Parts: sequence; C-alpha cells; structure tokens
Amino acid sequence: MTTAEVLSLVGPGLDRVDGRQKVAGAAPYPGDFSLPHLAHAALVQATVAAGRIRSIDATAARAAPGVLAVITHENAPRLARAPGALTMGPPPPLQHDRVLHHGQHVAVIVAETAEQAAAAARLVEIGYEQAQPLLDLGDPRAERIDNGAGRDVQRGDAAAGLASSAVAVDVTYTTPTQTHNPLGLFATAAYWDGDALTIHDSTQGPSFVRRALAVTFGVPESGVRVLAPFVGGAFGAGLRVWEHVVLVALAARTVARPVRLVLTRAQMFSSIGYRPRTVQRVRIGATGTGELAAIDHHGTEPAALEDSYAESLTRGTSVLYACGNLSARTTQVRLNVACPTWMRGPGEAPGIFALECAMDELAWELGQDPVELRLRNYAEVHPQTGRPWASKALRACYEQGAERFGWSRRTAQPRSMRAGGLLVGYGMASAYYGYVQAPCQARASLGRDGIAFVRSAGTDIGTGTYTVMTQVAAEALGLPPGQVRLGLGDSDMPPAPLQGGSGLTAAMGSAVHAACRQLVQAFLDVVADDPDSPLRGCGLADVRVGDGRISRPGEPASSEAYGAILSRHGLDELSADGASARREDTGMEPGIFAAKFAEVHVDPDLGLVRVTRVVAAVDGGRILNEKTATSQIIGGTVGGIGMTLLEETVADPGTGRIANASFGDYLVAVNADVPDIDVIFVGEPDPMNPIGVKGVGEVAIVGVAPAIANAVFHATGRRIRSLPISIEQLL
Ligand code: MOS
Repeated sequence: MTTAEVLSLVGPGLDRVDGRQKVAGAAPYPGDFSLPHLAHAALVQATVAAGRIRSIDATAARAAPGVLAVITHENAPRLARAPGALTMGPPPPLQHDRVLHHGQHVAVIVAETAEQAAAAARLVEIGYEQAQPLLDLGDPRAERIDNGAGRDVQRGDAAAGLASSAVAVDVTYTTPTQTHNPLGLFATAAYWDGDALTIHDSTQGPSFVRRALAVTFGVPESGVRVLAPFVGGAFGAGLRVWEHVVLVALAARTVARPVRLVLTRAQMFSSIGYRPRTVQRVRIGATGTGELAAIDHHGTEPAALEDSYAESLTRGTSVLYACGNLSARTTQVRLNVACPTWMRGPGEAPGIFALECAMDELAWELGQDPVELRLRNYAEVHPQTGRPWASKALRACYEQGAERFGWSRRTAQPRSMRAGGLLVGYGMASAYYGYVQAPCQARASLGRDGIAFVRSAGTDIGTGTYTVMTQVAAEALGLPPGQVRLGLGDSDMPPAPLQGGSGLTAAMGSAVHAACRQLVQAFLDVVADDPDSPLRGCGLADVRVGDGRISRPGEPASSEAYGAILSRHGLDELSADGASARREDTGMEPGIFAAKFAEVHVDPDLGLVRVTRVVAAVDGGRILNEKTATSQIIGGTVGGIGMTLLEETVADPGTGRIANASFGDYLVAVNADVPDIDVIFVGEPDPMNPIGVKGVGEVAIVGVAPAIANAVFHATGRRIRSLPISIEQLL
C-alpha cells in the first residue's frame, strides 16, 4: 500500500468526534467512575527526603471514623518489580523502611469517604531517622551516571575543532524542574474479583499498566483490565505506572472492595514525575563566515536513586546541523528526588533551548542573521550516519516561517525596534524531534447496519486520536465518518503502544489502516465464489471503496453495499485484525522538524515580557487533520510560553519539599499570556509508514523557549540564560 492510495480526507479536518460528548460532560474520565460499595484512599507522604522510618503509630488513624485499613510497609504484602523498569515505573511502594525522597508514599488509608480517608491520613504519626539528603547537582557525594539514555553522540574531534575556530561561544544555560500539571487530576479506581483486577486509570498506556500490575501482583495478565477511555491531559505524566496506581490496587485487594483515589493538586507535583532541571554547557565554534567547526554540548540533570529514567537531552544537538566535530552528552546525578519522567518534548525541549540560544549567540558574534546561520549549516543528510532523511522540509520551515512572520523587517541591533514605549524583539529557533514508532494492533468490524467499530487499546489524552483514527478508518473502508465508531483506552482491545514520543498516530493509524483494509479483504473473501456478486473473484487491488460500498472501478453497476453482502450470506458482521510494526531500518533517517519565530514586547522600566506573536512552521509529514494538528501546535506553543516565562517547580534546598505545589504558586500560561499563534504545515507524506505521518505532539513545544529567549535578547540586549525568564532577571 503506498501513501498515494489512501487518505483523501486530509485537509481542513473533521471536527472532534468526541467534542459533543466532552462539552456535555458525557465523556467519563477516570475520576468519574463510581462503583457499588466504593471505598476511598488517601496517601501519607514522607516529610523528609532521606533516612529511615523508625516508627509508625497508626492507632489514631485506625480508630478514626470510617477507616477500613491503614497499609504501611509493616503490613503490606511483598510486591514484585515489573521488568523493563522504565515504562513500568518506579519500584513498588511500601516494600521497605527507607525514605528515598520527600513526598514518598509511606502509607495509604482506606475509608468509607474520601474526606474520612484524608482526615485519617493526617493522624498517622511517623518517626524518621533522618539522613543528610542529596539534593544538589553539585553534591560530591552523589553518584554520577554518564550516557544513561545511551544517546551520547561523538563524531570527529570537538576539542580540536573548537581550538581552531575563528569565532566561538562558550555558554551555560539552565532550565528548572517543571511539572506536567494537566487539568485533570490523576485518578485511579480499582476492584478485584479473585485474581482478576479491573482498574480505571489516568494513563497514556493501558497495555503497559496491565502488564505492570500483573507482574507486580503476580496475577495472570489476561485477568487484568485497564480502562482509560478519556484522560484529562497528561503531557507525559501518564507514561509510567506510578506508585499510587499500585497502592489503589493494593488497597482494593486489602479491603475486598472497589477503591478510588484522586490525587490532590499538590500530589500532582510529587507523585507522577516531572521534567528534571538541567545545567547545560554549550560550546560552538565556527569559521569567520559561519560554517560550524565544532559543537560541544554537555548536560547535567538529576536522576532518582532507584530508577533508570534518562532522557535524550542532547540528542537534537547531534542531528540539527552539518558539523563534523561534535560531542553531545548527558550526565545524570543520583539525588534524593522523586522519579523524573518524560514531559512535553522530553529531552529536546530543554536541550534544544540551550543549543538554539547558543546558536543565536554565535550568530550575534559573527554578525550574521540567525536564519542565515542555520541555512548555512543545513544538514542535507543525517549528520551522524550520513544517510538520507526519510523526509525533511526544515528549509521550507525556515523560509515560509520567516516569510509569514515578517522576519525581513528585523533590524539586527538589539534595542533597535520599538512599539510605543516598549522594546520589540524578534527571535527564532530550529526544532527537531526524533519520534518513536512502536508496534500496534487494531481490530475492525462492520455489521449489517453499515456501522464500523474500530478499536485499539491506546488512549486519546486530548490530542484528537479518536478523530484522526475515525478519519483513517472511514477512508480505508469507504464510509462516512459518522458511520465509524472508535474504541480506545481499554487493555482488552488489541495492544497499543504508549501515547507518547509523538508516535501513536503513526503506529495506530497504520494498524487501523491495515485492519480496515483486511476487513475489506474479508468481504471480498465472502463473495469470492458468489455468483450473485459483481465483486466475485476480485482482489483488494481490483476494487475501490466509497459510500459504504465496494465497487469495481469503471463499472458503476458493479458494486455492493457491505450490508447487502452480509445479509445475503446470513452474517451479522465481519471482523479483521491489523498491525503495524516497529519502524524498520529503511536506510533512511526519520525526523520531525520545525522553525519557530517569536515576537516579544518588553517594558524597559518594568522588565515585563509579553509574547506578542508566534509563527510555527512545522514539518510533521502528512497532516491527517489540520484542525486537531493545529490545536496540538497551539497547545505546545502555550506550554512553551509557560516553560520560558512562568513555569518552575521550586524545591526547598534543605528538605526537598516542593514549595509551590499549587496553581496559585506554580504559574502556567493562561489566556492573557497567549498571543496570536500562527501555524503552517509544510511537510510532505513521510515514507516511513503507510499513512505518511510523523507526529506533531512534541515538536510543538520544542524551539519555542529559545525563539522567545532570543527575542528577549534582541529586544533588550540582555542574555537571560536561566529559565524561566523573570522580571527580576531583566531588571
Ligand atoms: Mo509525551 S512527554 O511522550 O507524553
């Protein structure tokens, strides 16, 4: 199947098929599930960052009204750690008396009501034997891990290249801890029937939660069902199986009743990961005319004590430019911190921030236009492997983005552009994301009523998956979108990968497409020897689908409706399975690209920065639905504005306690912070999968922070090398 054969439905795009359900409050989110005899859980969290639990006095908690159970490491059953620890999450909770980080779950209370559980949780008295916590990236006692993600890249001789460059920059950028903060509080509700477990969960991967819980509790995977038909945002926080999910299942088993837990907003900061802070030193050398001679990018970030999460902080650096001498590497420092995790363009968002700000600094040193410097070092082939790109329209991103933005109006000198009393700055940055495409399965059925039911276990966390999968299925079956029903977010459906790494649309879209084509084949099989069918003896290549019918092209009379075939053969429905594979080695290199342009206005007296315009020119391959894809890019840009100007999770340096765990103190971008965001898609269908898509979830945020930071430099002449860019730093 070539891309040319499918998908004429692309373009302006279908409205969200689940939109009506969502605005009507009819879409059930994990916290909405109520069950008969539902009991409620509350968490008790460590108030120190390191040491041991010396004593637990739960007498008062056990005696409190409505309390059904208090579970601590003293009475919890032993649980197994799931293998493949990354997606499976941190080690299971309540297995020992050691405290690894502030906020560690040290007990769970189960009570008749959520209020009773929360009240009892405050009555648990825990005595700690405190140790001196490791909280600082520079702590000499801390273990340092090099290349934990296995993504360090070297080529040529970076040191020699730097030493021989005519112009060089040597700069250090820092980014703070940031927290996902989806609007929907993460919730889990679980009940057991013997060894069978049903669990509603805020997850980005029901198939993974199922496997992890089966291993953790030592029960058959076939008896575990994980449901997440709707998730109220996640941004990466739902990619791992967190301790609280295990605790809810454990609590339900203990009290032999359904149990639900809804995290508090404060617990959303301490229980479901975060973007780790970084310190990044970037050295770039160039010839006097701006050919890159060397790039050296070294990042440092924290890791939790018993966890293997590491992100691709410097990967983008190794990919973006043609430069023969490069060293891109990351060191992790093991600290008494909760497990970090993937968040909104993980790795690349902070890594490319440092790289692209340093490139802007280099352009300034060279006296060269920032776009010109990027074009001069354009990577025509993958700079590490020398192989061709599967598709790459980054040049078009620069050119069309600059055109739309009006980049040519920029005068090079900082502080040279004004609007009234405000300083005006123009900044730009490149963006790259290396998307993941993992194996996925889907199943499609079609009944006599002409309605198709297509399902796969993967989730739609608000990105538009229901909608674009409906389009893919409708196209492949030749049905109006209104005659396709999509089932998602149920681990009993065919297994799907995580909705993460910008890869689910490619993976699931390919599987849905394959299942639907197989379903058409199943109909042809039924009529293969049917003397009454005009399709008798036809293969898939001989027919077209449309208007709910299969037809032989050029012979309008030679067509049959799906329902007619089923009726004549006494069948209620036909079903077929489809699968997509892990991305094969095609000899080509995949990549998602973008160019971001930002305008800021800065008040010279107050230091107040306003982002006034953003243009995002994106090569995401084939865009299945311009409306939902644009929405993704807008959302990522808003996250990028937050990342640059507002978002910072502050931990007390002595105790590791998060000091701003609320929406009152952790600032996210709101409508008043969000300017006009102009999105252009410039890509061509990508040959790496049959539907030609790359994915746009992460590239949406990558490059926004450096574009804004570079605009702030252009407006003010000040390089702010530490995010978030604050009024204090600009004054
Ligand atoms: Mo994304 S951080 O892979 O949800």
